[in-house]
Amino acid sequence: MYRLPDHEPPLWWQGNLIYQVYPRSFMDGNQDGVGDLIGLNQRLDYLEALGIRCVWLSPVYPSPLYDFGYDVADYTSIDPVFGSLAEWERLLGRMHAKGMKLIMDWVPNHTSHQHPWFIESRASRTSPKRDWYIWRDPGEAGGPPNNWISFFGGSAWELDAATGQYYLHQFVREQPELNYRNPAVLEAMLEAMRFWLDRGVDGFRVDVLWLLIKDAAFRDEPLNRDWNGENPHARLHHIHTANQPEVHPIVRAFRALLDQYPQRVMMGEIDLPFAELMTYYGIQRDECHLPTNFSLIHTRWTVAAVRRVIDDYLASLPVGAWPNWVLGNHDQRRLASRLGQPQARVATLLLLTLPGTPVWYYGDEIGLENGIIPPEQIRDPQAVNQPDRAGQLGRDPQRTPMQWDASAHAGFTQAGVMPWLPVSVDYLQRNVAVQDSDEASFLGFFRQLIRLRTQIPALTRGDYSPLLVTGDAVLAYRRTWNGKTWLILLNFSAERQRLDGRQYLAGGRKILSTLTRTGSEVANIAADITLEPDEGCIVELTGPA
Ligand code: GLC
Repeated sequence: MYRLPDHEPPLWWQGNLIYQVYPRSFMDGNQDGVGDLIGLNQRLDYLEALGIRCVWLSPVYPSPLYDFGYDVADYTSIDPVFGSLAEWERLLGRMHAKGMKLIMDWVPNHTSHQHPWFIESRASRTSPKRDWYIWRDPGEAGGPPNNWISFFGGSAWELDAATGQYYLHQFVREQPELNYRNPAVLEAMLEAMRFWLDRGVDGFRVDVLWLLIKDAAFRDEPLNRDWNGENPHARLHHIHTANQPEVHPIVRAFRALLDQYPQRVMMGEIDLPFAELMTYYGIQRDECHLPTNFSLIHTRWTVAAVRRVIDDYLASLPVGAWPNWVLGNHDQRRLASRLGQPQARVATLLLLTLPGTPVWYYGDEIGLENGIIPPEQIRDPQAVNQPDRAGQLGRDPQRTPMQWDASAHAGFTQAGVMPWLPVSVDYLQRNVAVQDSDEASFLGFFRQLIRLRTQIPALTRGDYSPLLVTGDAVLAYRRTWNGKTWLILLNFSAERQRLDGRQYLAGGRKILSTLTRTGSEVANIAADITLEPDEGCIVELTGPA
């Protein structure tokens, strides 16, 4: 049995799902083919009606877009492509009036090469900001200072011919990395965060938090002997560029700043095994509120593997740590494409009934699939820089425009305007308008599930106990709160499964199914439970558990 840390009632980021908006692709309000804040504001009612109370917005700061906003040229302003500060304030004001929260993406590891700090740093070896970035002399044999490589292909070092030194970038060369061994950098970053906190932002999702500081001695990284030849970045063991012990005081400094304001949240992007991941809660629980848990994305979709991940994760959580779960984001292939539509619903039911905060990617609620991107329309640098692997590595397929209706460009932008990425071909059938009026659709199911989470406290704060059922096709667990129990049964297989209900319940009512037709499943369950192929359901126990 796993019991959540006690907060009564739960804090806003504990009780609500966090919905990620990738702003370029959500809604184009000014008809230039790129989504923006006006567009998001226009679609706020959609999110509200869906029951979304908390939005994480990917970067909207001024950026030359070498990594689509994750290369920030000014931390305290809004890129005109997305709108203006006034527009942002209007959005936040409306969100707060509706009782919604806004989490901004924060990218402290690197800036754009066009950020004034880097321009100054690069100007000369004696520039006062030289040490704000990571500059090194060439290696002994000439060439890069060491063997570190970029996530986006090739060396992580770029030579600046004018000053004869290399600077570090673990992503594109237009994303030089800041030097957190210089306290002035941390000060400047905190100052910039304060700018948004003072204006009422409710929290930050911190980009690549586990990479913020690198080995002081710049040692070469060892070869990964288990490398399967796929992702080139996995060729080395990143023991000197990631997860360095000195990162923790920096995380604590971010958190201490947030704690000066009431009820702010810090979600840290951290892609590490559980033991290391957990250290980012902080020994005193004074680091991230939510170090992101990507395990459901990384694991194979079998009952045994998923059960193991859930057990291991919950068992690894330190005392007082609030769990979280992620199924998709702008870096990962679409959920519905990874698992198929039926299992994507099963996974959704899992995500929203596990103990902890679910993190959701825009469009997954209508079952958006990976877009097909013709070679000439590839935009993501990860693919552009590694053309031989563009098909596997590019992230454009999961960033295609939201599909609102069956009008031109799926209602994302006006007819005659070219969307920045092509709208998926299935938009005529797969869109919000079509699904909105159909309770049996993915959207209808998702909305019912969110509603149930608000109506049934057990689903957000109840104790969690795994149930062992026969066979390897069904994942089953209980959520119990205040003496009442709900059973979650997830059929991972495409075959019908019969369970002997007497083991689990004396009587119950199926209150939601992934195969729901009406939204009010009230099938009574006594002795036997039948799960249809790919069916997941919530059963309310009416007899003793
Ligand atoms: C994070 C972001 C990703 C970005 C990278 C560099 O992993 O999620 O989209 O490319 O950091 O900022």
